[in-house]
Amino acid sequence: MSASPQIAAFFDEATHTVSYLVWDAATAEAAIIDPVLDYDHRSGEAGTASADALLGAAASHGLKLRWILETHAHADHLSAAPYLRERSGAPIAVGEHIREVQRLFAPVFNMPELTRDQAFDRLLAEGETLTLGELCIEVLHTPGHTPACVSYRIADAVFVGDTLFMPDYGTARADFPGGDAATLFRSIRKLLTLPPATRLFMCHDYKAPGREHYAWETTVAAQRKSNVHVHEGVDEASFVAMREQRDATLAAPALLLPSIQVNARAGQWPGPEDNGVHYLKIPLRMKPGAQA
Ligand SMILES: [Fe+2]
Repeated sequence: MSASPQIAAFFDEATHTVSYLVWDAATAEAAIIDPVLDYDHRSGEAGTASADALLGAAASHGLKLRWILETHAHADHLSAAPYLRERSGAPIAVGEHIREVQRLFAPVFNMPELTRDQAFDRLLAEGETLTLGELCIEVLHTPGHTPACVSYRIADAVFVGDTLFMPDYGTARADFPGGDAATLFRSIRKLLTLPPATRLFMCHDYKAPGREHYAWETTVAAQRKSNVHVHEGVDEASFVAMREQRDATLAAPALLLPSIQVNARAGQWPGPEDNGVHYLKIPLRMKPGAQA
């Protein structure tokens, strides 16, 4: 068995997102997974303190950044991937089904460029592998939360994105465009057939009833034994019924519209208008039954 990667987690309390710096100790080659841009939607101001913390940690360990990896087009934060690419020269990679997400959202935002841009440097297929020094990053397509979700397996560690949450919190919603609860269930089952001691790293944590601290690392064995939504014995039909019922009660994430139009383009902002300012779009519509 190959060596385990070194892993440092960075928790962003504003969006409840966990970003990871992962590296091969033998060669000092590193990857960053799911970096967050500090974005204040009230003012439109963005900052790079979170991304700079990742770069600072990489520098302090003497690491060379080889990959910037996204598990999916996030709907709750803006990605800092372009900033990190500019600083490091490392390419931005995502699952190849991002094309489906771009196709779904191009008409929503009237942004045909979403489907034309070569925004990402690398689109990854199921089973594809990337080199990280002497380690290997294996791409697992794990759709359901979104059609493009991937998990990254590096030796005994898997970065699952929003395919799973901590055992006491359960699973992510599956009601975004292109999401599907049955598909999510099958992706989860695929992850939970990995060896029981496999370490699983979450992309989000919200605490859970009775838990006062944030947590993001668990194992296949712990998920199988005690995940409140998908522990052993839960079948697909009952998971789908639970997930769909729960999703029907959830409001849109606060940063859904800003996030998707940016993250479907690898985190790049829409081009500046003639005054040099970048703008986000909010498609407006009346509620069904409401009078304009
Ligand atoms: Fe997500």
